[in-house]
Amino acid sequence: MSALIRAVGFSVVMILAFAAVTYVLPQVKGEAPEEEEVNLGELTIDSFVAMGEKLYKGKGTCTLCHNNLGRAPDMLTFDVHAASLQRIADSRYQGQAADVESYLRESMLQPSAYVVEGFGKKGSNDAESPMPAVDQPPIQLSDVEVDAIIAFLQQKDGNPVTVALPSGDAAPAVEAESTAAAPVLAQNAEEAIAKFGCAACHAILGSKSPVGPSLEDVGQRLQPAQIRISIIDPKAEIAQGFPPIMPEFPNMAVAELEMVVQYLSQQTGSQP
Ligand code: HEC
Ligand code: HEC
Repeated sequence: MSALIRAVGFSVVMILAFAAVTYVLPQVKGEAPEEEEVNLGELTIDSFVAMGEKLYKGKGTCTLCHNNLGRAPDMLTFDVHAASLQRIADSRYQGQAADVESYLRESMLQPSAYVVEGFGKKGSNDAESPMPAVDQPPIQLSDVEVDAIIAFLQQKDGNPVTVALPSGDAAPAVEAESTAAAPVLAQNAEEAIAKFGCAACHAILGSKSPVGPSLEDVGQRLQPAQIRISIIDPKAEIAQGFPPIMPEFPNMAVAELEMVVQYLSQQTGSQP
C-alpha cells in the first residue's frame, strides 16, 4: 500500500520534472534578451528609463528584496524622489549625497552609507545594510546600468530625470556587456550560480546569505532529483522555516541547470 503511494508520488514528481524541463528547454535556443535591442545610437530618455525598469526587475534582481514582503522598502509604492530628500535630511544621515540622484547612486554602490531605519542587518542596530553593492558580484551592474535604474526610479513618479544619457566611450561598453549578459551560457556551475544570483539568498561560493537554506551541505540533505525540483519548481516543496520567496529561473538553460544540480549534489559541507 505505502509502496503504491510512493510509486504514485514518484510519478507525480516525474511529471512535474518533465513539465518543468520542457518549460525550460526552449530557452536553450535562447531568444535574444530584450536589453540587446537597445541601440545606444538611438537612446532617448524614454528608452533609457525602459532599460532601467528592465534591469530593476530583471538582471539587477532589485525586486527580490524590494517588494511587498517587507525585506526592503518597496520603492515601486512610494515617491522615491521625496523619500530620498527625507533620507538626506535625516539626522542619522552620514553619507556624501547632496541630491536625489547622488543619494540613489550611493544607496546602490555603498548601501551601508545610510541604512533605512528598521532595515539594517540583524544585530547591527541599522549600521549595516543587508543589501549587496550592485556593482559587485553577484549583481555586477555597469555604471551605465546603474544610471538607467536611477532614471527609472526618478521617472516612475513623474519626477525630473537628472542622469545624463550615456554617450561616447560609455556606449560601446554597455553594448558589449548587455550582449554578454544573458544569452551566453555559463561555462561551469560557479558561473551559473553567479549568473542567476543564487548567492544573494544562499550560503554558497563564499556567500553567507541566510535568506534561504545553506547550499554548502545541500548534497548531504537532498538527492540530485530533489535539488533539481527545488530549482525548477521552487514552490513544489518549501524548506521548513524559510519564506516561500525563491524565484523561478525561466531563462536557465538545461545545461546550466544540470551543472548546478551536479555541483550542489557534491556540496556535503565536509569538503576542505
Ligand atoms: C538582498 C536584498 C536587496 C537587493 C537584491 C537589493 N536591495 Fe536595495 N535595499 C535593501 C535593503 C534591506 C534596503 C534598506 C536598508 C538600506 O538602506 O540599505 C535597501 C535600500 C535601497 C535603497 C534606499 C531606499 C530608501 O528608501 O532610501 C535604494 C535606492 C536601493 N536599495 C536600490 C536597490 C536597487 C536599484 C537594487 C537592484 C539593482 C537593489 N536595491 C537590490 C535590500 C536589497
Ligand atoms: C530570493 C532569494 C533566493 C534566490 C535568488 C535563490 N533561492 Fe533557493 N531558496 C530560497 C529560499 C527562501 C528557500 C527555502 C524555501 C523554499 O524551499 O522555497 C530556497 C530553497 C532552495 C533549495 C532547497 C534547499 C533545501 O535545503 O531544501 C535549493 C536547492 C535552492 N534553493 C537552490 C537555489 C539555486 C541553485 C539558486 C540560483 C539558481 C537559488 N536557489 C536562488 C531563496 C532563494
